[in-house]
Amino acid sequence: MKGIILVGGTGTRLYPSTKVLNKHLLQVFDKPMVYYALAHVMSMGVRDILFVVDGPTQKYLTQLLGQGTHLGCRFRYRRQENPGGIAEAFLLGEDFVSGEPVLLMLGDNFLYGDNFQGEADQLLPVRGAKIFAYRVSKTEGYGVVHLDGRGNPISISEKPKEGGGYAVPGLYLYDHQAMELAKQIKRSPRGEMEITSLHEAYLQQKQLYVEKLPKGLIWFDMGIPSALHEAAQYVSNLLEKKNIYVGCIEQVAYQRGYIDRTGLAQIIDQMPSGAYRSHLHSLL
Ligand code: DAU
Repeated sequence: MKGIILVGGTGTRLYPSTKVLNKHLLQVFDKPMVYYALAHVMSMGVRDILFVVDGPTQKYLTQLLGQGTHLGCRFRYRRQENPGGIAEAFLLGEDFVSGEPVLLMLGDNFLYGDNFQGEADQLLPVRGAKIFAYRVSKTEGYGVVHLDGRGNPISISEKPKEGGGYAVPGLYLYDHQAMELAKQIKRSPRGEMEITSLHEAYLQQKQLYVEKLPKGLIWFDMGIPSALHEAAQYVSNLLEKKNIYVGCIEQVAYQRGYIDRTGLAQIIDQMPSGAYRSHLHSLL
């Protein structure tokens, strides 16, 4: 399965921190924000990944992550000239996707739960798309899905102004139809190709599947200051109280067997001394 991680956008809600720096490069406890999404995608068994990125950030992201070979992965980068919406990733990445199923993750999303694991290709329905639903007290600011008594989707909308319900986190799985459906999306009044429009298209075909995320799972959309802060606090607590290290891409690569001991040792050799290097060393 192919992976796409979105790391463009404007980052307006984090201004002025994002005045000169793309939000996905901002620090979340001890590593850049994009590490969390990347580690998540890699841990779901996806290694061929396209980053959709704005022009000025492309060179920094490439410096940070390279071609991915050191992690047993393949990373490619595609420039998005203007933030034209999440679903635009399909148009930008058409040659990359080339008719295969796709796991798409938003680079500012953080998901963690020891009871939430799964291989991307096993989670994908035989035909259709899979999204997740996360109960929130305020749906404002999210894509929101309405479910019937059996948990099947009835409708889906982007940023409705109402109370509680099921928000849709930024982790989505699509079969080969996504590309064709994305091409038919009309831009919203704010000029974006909304990801919710793609989900609506799948829903109309009765091919949208929703999985409620288990209780105890943590989800942050780190695109606002309070959530960014909370996520950092959460990562720090997990490390200090449970000795669990989240978002460590080298650890995921090693533990999933994408690289061997020699590969990890080579990565460590290139790192300056410090807590991150010591952690990786402890794995050996
Ligand atoms: O966090 C989950 C929510 O993310 C979903 O519930 C919504 O349905 C979805 O539209 C999205 O809403 P946001 O308002 O949070 O989207 P935002 O503009 O923050 O962009 C989400 C990510 O996608 C972020 O990592 C930046 C990236 N992005 C966004 C746009 C619009 C791009 O790379 N290019 C873009 O054109």
